[in-house]
Amino acid sequence: MADETMKKVLAIYPGSFDPVTNGHLDLIERGAKIFDRLIVSLLRNFDKQPLFTLDERVEMLREVVRPWPNVEVEMFSGLLVDYARLREADVILRGIRAVSDYEYELQMAMMNRKLNPNVETVFMMPALSYSYLSSRLVREIAHLGGPLHGLVPPVVEERLRAKVL
Ligand code: PNS
Repeated sequence: MADETMKKVLAIYPGSFDPVTNGHLDLIERGAKIFDRLIVSLLRNFDKQPLFTLDERVEMLREVVRPWPNVEVEMFSGLLVDYARLREADVILRGIRAVSDYEYELQMAMMNRKLNPNVETVFMMPALSYSYLSSRLVREIAHLGGPLHGLVPPVVEERLRAKVL
């Protein structure tokens, strides 16, 4: 039986989310089921030229995670492991869609372990139907006027259409 004094597991799910896709949401749903708390952590990356501003991405994320009471959205800057330490997170959650993701994700996970051995990277796989989905392809399809239905939540689809008009 669950004990009140039992440790609660906090996971952070970092990324750029430019924009959040149904693949991200699938992973959030899976993460919300197995971790006590999940913080979707949006990187403030000053190098990249994003399509959506940080505020827009946070707004969309907050809207789409509303169904899960144990999921929050936050921004972070600097090293992911420093942010994890600050939040006292136990887990870094990352999605692996295909073998092609694995090499980069493994390298990042190992480097993060070297920098902070106390935080564990956990990989989860989204549904197979999202295995080809990425924010980059979604941006490209939006720019070229292609169909976005089923790839992103309706609120994101609306914002994408407005953005690329
Ligand atoms: O959505 P993305 O672009 O795949 O997310 C990449 C992210 C945010 C997880 C990664 O770029 C990151 O952790 N950046 C923070 C800076 C950092 O800690 N770099 C060292 C990684 S080993």
